[in-house]
Amino acid sequence: MSEIARRIRYGGDYNPEQWPTTVWDEDVRLMQQAHVTTATIAVFAWAKLEPAPGQYDFGWLDDVFDRLSRAGIRVILATATASPPAWLAHRHPESLPVTIDGVRLAFGSRQQFSPSSAAYRHHALRLVTELAARYADHPALEAWHVGNEYGNHVTRSYDPETAEAFRIWLHNRYGDIDTLNAAWGTAFWSQTYRSFAEVGVPSAAPMIRNPTQVLDFDRFSSDALLELYRAEAEIIRSYAPDTPITTNFMSFFKDVDYWSWTPHVDVVSDDLYPDPADPRSYVLSAATRDLMRSLGAGKSWLLMEQATSAVNWRPPNVPLADGRHRLNSLQAVARGADGVLHFQWRQSAAGAEKFHSAMLPHAGEDTRVHRGVRALGAELRELGDLVGAGVPARVALCFDWDSWRAIEQDGTPATVDYLDTVLRFYEGFLRRGVTVDFLHPEADSTAYSLVVAPAAHVLSDDAVHALASVPARGGTLVVTYLSGVVDENLHVRLGGYLGGEGALRSALGVRVEEFAPVADSTAFDVTGDYAGASDFWQELIRVDDAQVEVVSSFASGFAAGSPAITVKRGVGGAGAAWYVGTRPSTALVDKLVSAWLADSNIPAAFEHAVTGIETVLRGSRRFVANHSEAPVRLSVDNRQIELSGHDCTWIGTREEPIEITSTSAGPTLIPSEGEIQRCEHVGALMIARPGSPDPAE
Ligand code: GAL
Repeated sequence: MSEIARRIRYGGDYNPEQWPTTVWDEDVRLMQQAHVTTATIAVFAWAKLEPAPGQYDFGWLDDVFDRLSRAGIRVILATATASPPAWLAHRHPESLPVTIDGVRLAFGSRQQFSPSSAAYRHHALRLVTELAARYADHPALEAWHVGNEYGNHVTRSYDPETAEAFRIWLHNRYGDIDTLNAAWGTAFWSQTYRSFAEVGVPSAAPMIRNPTQVLDFDRFSSDALLELYRAEAEIIRSYAPDTPITTNFMSFFKDVDYWSWTPHVDVVSDDLYPDPADPRSYVLSAATRDLMRSLGAGKSWLLMEQATSAVNWRPPNVPLADGRHRLNSLQAVARGADGVLHFQWRQSAAGAEKFHSAMLPHAGEDTRVHRGVRALGAELRELGDLVGAGVPARVALCFDWDSWRAIEQDGTPATVDYLDTVLRFYEGFLRRGVTVDFLHPEADSTAYSLVVAPAAHVLSDDAVHALASVPARGGTLVVTYLSGVVDENLHVRLGGYLGGEGALRSALGVRVEEFAPVADSTAFDVTGDYAGASDFWQELIRVDDAQVEVVSSFASGFAAGSPAITVKRGVGGAGAAWYVGTRPSTALVDKLVSAWLADSNIPAAFEHAVTGIETVLRGSRRFVANHSEAPVRLSVDNRQIELSGHDCTWIGTREEPIEITSTSAGPTLIPSEGEIQRCEHVGALMIARPGSPDPAE
């Protein structure tokens, strides 16, 4: 392993083409001072690399490569295809994307290509071939970065070439038009097609569009982008078979189904810009990091982009307060990132992003931001032993793009925010310091003791069986409202939802007779063993099985008296199948999470739920982060840890690893002055060093 391979990668997008060469020397000098290991180059450099069709200029890129290489900085080379040059739009106006309303977008921003454009594809692949042939063997090359943020900003185009490509995709999926008609339910509203030639893209229409057509177009559009990525990757691989290839994902991005992409990337990478004005943004960030790790089946991933301070696309662009850039970075590392990269190295002096922060701000090196950048670079050097280290998890949370898209279509029982629903349960585990992996509902879940499927609206037969197998093998399954309502063609699973007749419904022992979403945001109570407040959702649940225990019922409203939450336990208590037919409040989620962890015998790092503080174990180290502004003190393994606001620390080293043993009773978070209210419910982080007595004993 080279020295750099043992380090957490640090750096960012480097766009020297925006600057005179006199600035390049300073760039390299300051990068070295900031402990930069990695620069991503040429992301938006197509026009500079190919100033006229077929005429290439690689001299400047050779120079950049050489300068970085001499300084010991490794290169992630982008394929530059995310932003085609003016000449392409001029020569091939048909390559420009068309919106749902039929408006053709103009040149003058970026990403102005239709994913199905033959002209775009031809020119993009020609450029990639030139780049791959020239740089495949460059000793400074560490990885290839294909395109940029596929689907941002154009995910779908409604142009004629796209319609043709969609028809081919449909033909491959359905084989014949009768099968398509059956899948799309075209008997409804007289939508029957006689041939594929009659089928179009779901452009703006008078009323609700065919739901399966819309979902298929979503799937097709994600696949069309994937096909572009794969075409570039294939060329690169033919020249550089051993160099990792990646493209940057965008957190939970509805338009691109990342489960289908990850088999084709060597390293998962992600761009994330947590909102500094939202005190709860760390929840989405934590979940995003966990998603990235899960997409790669537990492998390390790369934070490809983040900001050192403000972005330029929020109203308003709040800067990151002291400590928060470091906190965001360490959160990513704690949750499995082997690299912390940024958009971008030097803040631009012109163009649309000149007010976006960077590692080197407009005001230069003697600045708050750049000092922070240098300090973080030095700190990350200490964490090299984490490169490749895993993040263990025993809880799986199902996440599925089909369910996300389908439940948020028009014409559903209520306006549901799928991501919010998933995160509501995710956060319950985060508050207890329990690490969660995300899982596709069809995936093998045997590595997990607890599987939670929130609003798993679309369930294929395989998914129904995968979920039903969890309690059967002695695990704990949790299924929530709006799950198993339709199959992958969005046809209703008849006879009481929850996957229809069969394995899942019998595992749960209940049936859903009628939905009853609540008209306003008024909370209502559920009573019983798991009493508490709920809102948004009621339904009529019927119990079909004597083994089912009704643990809470609706106290009022349309479904008053009907079960709200149930559990069916297996013989001898082995295996449990929970059904949650309502949207529980935070406090009720916390109660339920406790029960689910107990059922699955999973220890929690925090004895009680706590907000604003996060802990995660990676490799030999436990990270503890305080996302709130107020300072806190924690007792961890009889050691006092003090964290100021927006601070993060870790316990354990490669030489002296830590190991979790169990939870203990009693809160051990010691409130700082003035913080008593906020901290009193916080529990213990139970960590024991090898050889030390079990704190639970
Ligand atoms: C990303 C993009 C970067 C830069 C950044 C600004 O979406 O990949 O090129 O635009 O946003 O936040």
